[in-house]
Amino acid sequence: MINVNYETGDSILTAADACAAGAGEALRALRAEAMPFTGWVNYAERLTDEAMSDIEQAAAKIRADSGVFVVIGIGGSYLGAKAALDFIGGGIADGSAEEHPRIEFAGFNLSAAYHAALLKRIEGDDISICHISKSGGTLEPGTAFDLLRSLLIRKYGEAGADARTYVVTDPQGGKLKAMADERGWKSFPIPSDIGGRYSVLTPVGLLPLAVAGIDIREIVSGARAVMGAPETALAGAVRLACVRKAIQDSGKAVEVIAAFEPAAASFTDWMLQLYGESEGKDGKGMLPVGVVFTRDLHSLGQFLQEGNQIFSETFLRIVKPPAELGDMNRFNEAALRGTLAAHRSANIPVTVIDLPDMSARSFGEAVQFFEIVCGVTGILMGVDPFNQPGVEAYKREMMALI
Ligand code: PA5
Repeated sequence: MINVNYETGDSILTAADACAAGAGEALRALRAEAMPFTGWVNYAERLTDEAMSDIEQAAAKIRADSGVFVVIGIGGSYLGAKAALDFIGGGIADGSAEEHPRIEFAGFNLSAAYHAALLKRIEGDDISICHISKSGGTLEPGTAFDLLRSLLIRKYGEAGADARTYVVTDPQGGKLKAMADERGWKSFPIPSDIGGRYSVLTPVGLLPLAVAGIDIREIVSGARAVMGAPETALAGAVRLACVRKAIQDSGKAVEVIAAFEPAAASFTDWMLQLYGESEGKDGKGMLPVGVVFTRDLHSLGQFLQEGNQIFSETFLRIVKPPAELGDMNRFNEAALRGTLAAHRSANIPVTVIDLPDMSARSFGEAVQFFEIVCGVTGILMGVDPFNQPGVEAYKREMMALI
């Protein structure tokens, strides 16, 4: 179970106590899915055996006929899968996993160099591709999809390419779904009431993870465990939301999220989107910044200790690290405790979040936990944590130029 330790100072905790009632109400609203785009709250509990089997069957086919599986998506349509792939197992292959295709990512930038290198890297392999886009109309993945489809058609012909093309999209009204139906591409739904950054536990994350040989049922069971534990897991999430709100109200403008395992760095990237896109609105919110310790203690450590104190810190501690090697884990724990003591001496509010391990189940648990934390924090702040009107601004300007 996730455990949170607060080294934030008494005034923050007292302020957090004062918002407990409001936070409880926010949680009840989320659980009742009483606001738009809250379909993610009970999604894991609703996910049927049949839906998981459908994902597993497609993954089995891809595993059988592909050496590479290219996940094409941006933002919430790729960060969750990337986070899980890096996090689960801590980057250590246990030797028991069956062979599975290499997972590559595309369409999360507009770099010709990135995509030229990708195409070169994969052209000799057997390839399947998956276009993941809730709207079906995002420029970056759409452009990459066209390139990868051309490669598939060159290699396998139209019909062969169609059999290796997968789509995850909103089934209601999107043009990608219509195209998939027309061409006979296998498609999976992103429910209309779930936004991109809350979608990792839907086929958006589950299909790539199943292809990578990860037990998606374990992930789902972790998420279900959070929702089934209102006195512990959910109460912990609500408390953390109150503390984050109190830290923000105390004048902090930045939340530095520190992973002590490099394999958790992509998980912090996922958290940056979750917190940043959900809370950064109406001139409010703390800018989330991801760091990896101890690496960044040797670059940003000076600033954190003695620089402009505009930030709080959140440490992600893995209670049971994924590997044992000499004194490393003992030293890493000493680094965490030493950094905590040093930063507390500078009066930095620090929250230490204990994640049990780097298993698939813990990943599911962490995703569900932080999504609840984020939703409740946003509601307490008086913003809508489920929209992202600001993201449209750059798209409008860019599309006008294109
Ligand atoms: O959280 C969000 O909704 C966004 O970050 C989207 O995931 C991102 O913009 C990609 O959108 P789409 O999945 O429609 O291509």
